Amino acid sequence: MRSPSPWPAIRGIAYGGDYTPEQWARETWDEDVALMREAGVDLVSVGIFAWALIEVEEGVFDFAWLDELLDLLHRNGIRVDLGTPTASPPAWFFARHPDARVVSRDGVVQGFGARGMASHSSPAYREAIVRIASALAERYADHPAVVLWHVHNEYGVPVGEDYSAQSAEAFRGWLRERHGSLDALNAAWGTAFWGQRYTDWEHVGVPAAAPSVVNPAQRLDFARFTDHQLRECFRAERDAIRRFASQPITTNFMANQAWVADLWAWGREVDVVSDDHYLWSADPEGEIGLAIAADLSRSVGGGKPWILMEHSTSAVNWQPRNVAKRPGEMARNSLAHLARGADAILFFQWRASRSGAEKFHSAMVPHAGTTSRVWREVVDLGAKLDRLDELQGTVVEADVAVLWDFESFWAQDLEWRPSDDLSHADRIRAFYERLWRDGITVDFALPGHDLSKYRLVVAPAQYLLRAADAANLTRYVEQGGTLVVSYFSGIVDEHDAVHAGGFGAPLAAALGVRVEEFLPLREGVRTSVAWRGDDTAPLAADAVFTADVWHEAIALEGAEVVARHLDGPGAGLPAVTRHAYGEGVGWYVATRLDAEGLRTVMDDVYADAGIAPTGHPDGLEVVTRRGDAADYVVAINHRDEPARLAASGLELLTGTEVVDAFDVAAGGVAVVRTTREPRGGGR
Ligand code: GLA
Repeated sequence: MRSPSPWPAIRGIAYGGDYTPEQWARETWDEDVALMREAGVDLVSVGIFAWALIEVEEGVFDFAWLDELLDLLHRNGIRVDLGTPTASPPAWFFARHPDARVVSRDGVVQGFGARGMASHSSPAYREAIVRIASALAERYADHPAVVLWHVHNEYGVPVGEDYSAQSAEAFRGWLRERHGSLDALNAAWGTAFWGQRYTDWEHVGVPAAAPSVVNPAQRLDFARFTDHQLRECFRAERDAIRRFASQPITTNFMANQAWVADLWAWGREVDVVSDDHYLWSADPEGEIGLAIAADLSRSVGGGKPWILMEHSTSAVNWQPRNVAKRPGEMARNSLAHLARGADAILFFQWRASRSGAEKFHSAMVPHAGTTSRVWREVVDLGAKLDRLDELQGTVVEADVAVLWDFESFWAQDLEWRPSDDLSHADRIRAFYERLWRDGITVDFALPGHDLSKYRLVVAPAQYLLRAADAANLTRYVEQGGTLVVSYFSGIVDEHDAVHAGGFGAPLAAALGVRVEEFLPLREGVRTSVAWRGDDTAPLAADAVFTADVWHEAIALEGAEVVARHLDGPGAGLPAVTRHAYGEGVGWYVATRLDAEGLRTVMDDVYADAGIAPTGHPDGLEVVTRRGDAADYVVAINHRDEPARLAASGLELLTGTEVVDAFDVAAGGVAVVRTTREPRGGGR
């Protein structure tokens, strides 16, 4: 059950953060390494924004400070994740290559003075990134401190789409390759509409701001192109490093916080997935978004352990209101990532910056120094992680897959959809949250993946669905799977064209329904849905739920009606249906149900799928990592009172032998090594 370590040079769970000593005087470095040792830090990310300090002018390198730094870290037993600084080209680069500047959708040329890469399609930028990545790799490939390479920083943010002339040129080249001919492009983009037909490749451009809504198929292709260009930049650096160095190479993703990069494709390019995650202060239950990000990071890496490359010790500085973490919350967050497969727990950043745009961001060493609560908790977390080293390489298994398809998100979030309330993020969160509250661990998957190992597949937002992927889902049901599909799914093909046969047509066989018409609701309107009710039978009060946002006119093609609208534009029409198809069952949820309504649907769905939800026993979020000989039950107490975990084994954080039950402290976490039981999952 163990996955071989992607970074064999580190044993156990790695701990540390982004380290920017270039912002500090030399004496501070000595204090830093002493404090790192005190906190148990054994991995730091270095050099990520230091291009101007390494390549001081084009082709002229100053490695002296980096040599000294890496040697110092090595002497102190601290390993290095060496960054390539290409997310922040120096002033001299833009001065020499003004054409490499990014242009926004509304035509504004982006200035210098912040950070953010140059145009992903600029030949000068491409040449420069290979030069700096090669120079670093050549110099440090054999440095004993370097255990990992960190290419760039968060591709897609702040620079994703680029509307510059060179981007337009590259877009045309990409389109030629993708579509082959202008006729094929005209057909794919449906350019007969509004007379957009192209007669010359040179007339095809980027989907810049225009008087009205720009062709959605063109925009979807531009999103694909952007992702492709960014990935090419990554590959160029990765391959340059690989010519010299053998350590694993990663780049930090932002699973569930940005949707510019198709992380399924990126997951195949990196040696190990790494992810940055920040709580959204406005969300009082940020732990659910955290769990989504962690499960997605694990899933795009094919289930292998991954690196939590960044999170925060306390508040961030870039949200409207940056809420500080409460005592204990930092460790809870870190261990929640670990529970879902992270083998390294790192922060942005080691020492709080005194200058610049991020000086109000929390850090491991805050401005208040080492007499602070944050520092004490940082030291305590280091000690905790030391006790969890044996979890390294253990894996997380799931019986349920939630579909997550970046292309579908790109297409769905364009303008002029039937309702502004059709948010893919909202549906993913609603269904994921239900599963999370029911204590069910999930993987994320693409609709084209082999889904046969899952008892249940949930499609909360599959607006774009290729015919072949719909066939895969249909086969999944036919062969005994349980599939739940939420509204506004299976609407368009890969060109954002409505499927022949109408809305949802490619899933009609599996779901036993066809959607005749969308009936979106006005903002704020709430309607009632009767569970298993009909026009005549009296309903129990607890069998009526509220719905909002969306109704639709459904034609039944074999499905049974499980819930009906009592009022609103869909009054009398099906709101939830169930269809026995082949060996399996296809469920369709045609409205946005309230939490109780969704719970009721999912309870029946679990019964069909043979899943027994555990919920959060005594309020504990429980996730299991599985090893060769033992399971590790991680129980996270999000409440302000102690909670009782039913388990037997060794609680690793306290060293307590547990017989039958363990009291998890208020706001605390327990990790119990239990004897491995044979697993009953799968279908
Ligand atoms: C991102 C970046 C970091 C830093 C943090 C602040 O994740 O990668 O450099 O800006 O945000 O939260």
